[in-house]
Amino acid sequence: MTEKEKREVVETTEAQIAVHWQEEGYVNPSGKFVAQANMTDDTIYERFSLDNFPNCFKEYADLLDWYEYWHTTLDTSDAPCWKWFAGGKINASYNCIDRHLAKNKNKTAIHFVPELESEKVEHVTYQELFVRVNEFAALLRDFAGLKRGDRVTLHLPMTAELPITMLACARLGVIHSEVFGGFSGNACADRIVDSQSRVLITMDAYYRGGKLIDHKEKADTAVGKAEEDGQKVDKVLVWQRYPGKYSADTPMVEGRDYFVNDLLKDYYGVRVEPERMNAEDPLFLMYTSGTTGKPKGCQHSTGGYLAYVTGTSKYVQDIHPEDVYWCMADIGWITGHSYIVYGPLALCASSVIYEGIPTYPDPGRCWRIAQDLDINIFHTAPTAIRALRKVGPDEPAKYNYHFKHMTTVGEPIEPEVWKWYYEVVGKKEAIIVDTWWQTETGGFLCSTLPAITPMKPGSAGPGMPGIHPVILDDDGNPIPTGSGKAGNICIQNPWPGGFQTIWGDRDRFVRQYYERYCKDPKSKDWRDWPYLAGDAAVQAEDGYYRILGRIDDVINVSGHRLGTKEIESAALVVPEVVEAAVVPVKHDIKGIEPDLYVSLKPGVEGTEELAQKVSQTIVSEIGAIARPRKVWIVPDMPKTRSGKIMRRVLGAISNNADVGDVMTLANPEIVEAITKMVQEK
Ligand code: WTA
Repeated sequence: MTEKEKREVVETTEAQIAVHWQEEGYVNPSGKFVAQANMTDDTIYERFSLDNFPNCFKEYADLLDWYEYWHTTLDTSDAPCWKWFAGGKINASYNCIDRHLAKNKNKTAIHFVPELESEKVEHVTYQELFVRVNEFAALLRDFAGLKRGDRVTLHLPMTAELPITMLACARLGVIHSEVFGGFSGNACADRIVDSQSRVLITMDAYYRGGKLIDHKEKADTAVGKAEEDGQKVDKVLVWQRYPGKYSADTPMVEGRDYFVNDLLKDYYGVRVEPERMNAEDPLFLMYTSGTTGKPKGCQHSTGGYLAYVTGTSKYVQDIHPEDVYWCMADIGWITGHSYIVYGPLALCASSVIYEGIPTYPDPGRCWRIAQDLDINIFHTAPTAIRALRKVGPDEPAKYNYHFKHMTTVGEPIEPEVWKWYYEVVGKKEAIIVDTWWQTETGGFLCSTLPAITPMKPGSAGPGMPGIHPVILDDDGNPIPTGSGKAGNICIQNPWPGGFQTIWGDRDRFVRQYYERYCKDPKSKDWRDWPYLAGDAAVQAEDGYYRILGRIDDVINVSGHRLGTKEIESAALVVPEVVEAAVVPVKHDIKGIEPDLYVSLKPGVEGTEELAQKVSQTIVSEIGAIARPRKVWIVPDMPKTRSGKIMRRVLGAISNNADVGDVMTLANPEIVEAITKMVQEK
């Protein structure tokens, strides 16, 4: 391929269609907020400067209880697989539960809010959490035979049983891998196989949009498909949404499926001594989409991860013991792991878990929950903010709640939407942090520090203390601050929350995140290994970063990461389809939506039914979040002379943008035909 052709096959990225809004002015936190903030000392940036790296992170690790202190803060001997707090021994379940009991056993750890308003809210105290985690850990150990280092797949919806299960695993040193409840059985199977889990933990049913959904069904698909792919699951542990009652229609499989609530009776009163884990032992896997069809298991450590999410929950989320904190993300995503479960519970916070959709049964639901539980910290994504604003712009004013702090995460937030969040949801009393980070990074990378650095709508803010971003151009030269030019945002240094590797695929880990800008692949010096985040960004004069979107084949639908290749390979499961191409399209609420182009086997007719079938297949292969806006059946794909599909051209068509020069394509005439088809609809 010539250089020119190589450039031509650059595919449509989110960054290319990102909204390039203008820089906004600063908004300052109120004196009232500052007066109570956990971190008001602006020398923190100095303490966490590169000169003080890596020892600065001791400050976060010291928020935890260690069985044994570490001897090496950062061990780089296996670069770029960093080991933080090497020599340290710690248990995450102990830090999130046991250590709080002496002073706070009667405090609510988890408020579980069922979707149906007729059901009462469940308040799980720290003591009750302790009891339930111990009993379930005993069951996992003695009944399921799980031990330190084993992997177990969880496919649990948003209920209190999800953190209970995670913490029971952590207590034993079992590596949990929670799969988002909305994912299909097939998607769950892939993760079971990749992590070699022989136990699946699920729930019979949960509420969504007022309907009790049979979730057990997905476990049967998952186990069946995993077995076909070579991984046998010998036990399926089924929590019941209503303990003692089975709420799914799918039958239980004798000798394989067990109701947790039946088994638990044998473990009443049992206590399990927490395993003394090495700081660098894996705590969990979190699968996420990347540039290939296969999702990758991001492996997170115990000590480094927990230190990082605890420190950032304290200083960025500003959680105090008396606060009621609600992060509306799903625990099936990294945000939920770090900022519903591990960070807040390590700080002895009260963390809210809501089962259902934010606008059920009406647009005021969120604000009623906030009012009734007297929530003062709220955390959600732009896609939810846009939806709440659309359906109920005046709802927040009707409820008597007061937030002091709000977070936005997952996608760039339009200044317009930011201002509604600030003025209407936050009632101009709450500060906002726009936190930029990723599944891979464990915790926040860029954000303002709420009492120290002012807010700027649409901007994530400066690097976090101890995180030193740099924007590099394609040749690896830093793009100067304030130049207005976009480039690839990288982090110059490791940090304790960063993932350790891709489960079972170190080469892919190095290739994808470090190879691009590494000058010496043999180097053991962290300075030689900038971390490539995969986002495009610009840095303003004041050092604040604005994130534009993904530079790779990942799209961000409603703040959820999907690989275009994943969707394309799901479409190819339909036998009539020969080629598939996914491109991101702008959407008012979801931010981005996938548009799917397919071409068919010769002689097959492109009917509406077939388009429906393709769409349905994607839902059953991945889950409803991956459903394309539209399946366009095209006579042929626009291609380069070397036969590569030009997604850039398709992306431009879908977004009603200029397709640019297409005369060098192998089949330029097709562009006009497709444009007509799409833009006339
Ligand atoms: C995007 C979610 C702009 C970004 C925590 C990143 C954001 C991807 C922001 C990671 C933000 C996340 N502003 N974009 N505040 N936060 N992103 O792995 O493209 O699900 O690479 O982690 O979401 O998504 P992930």
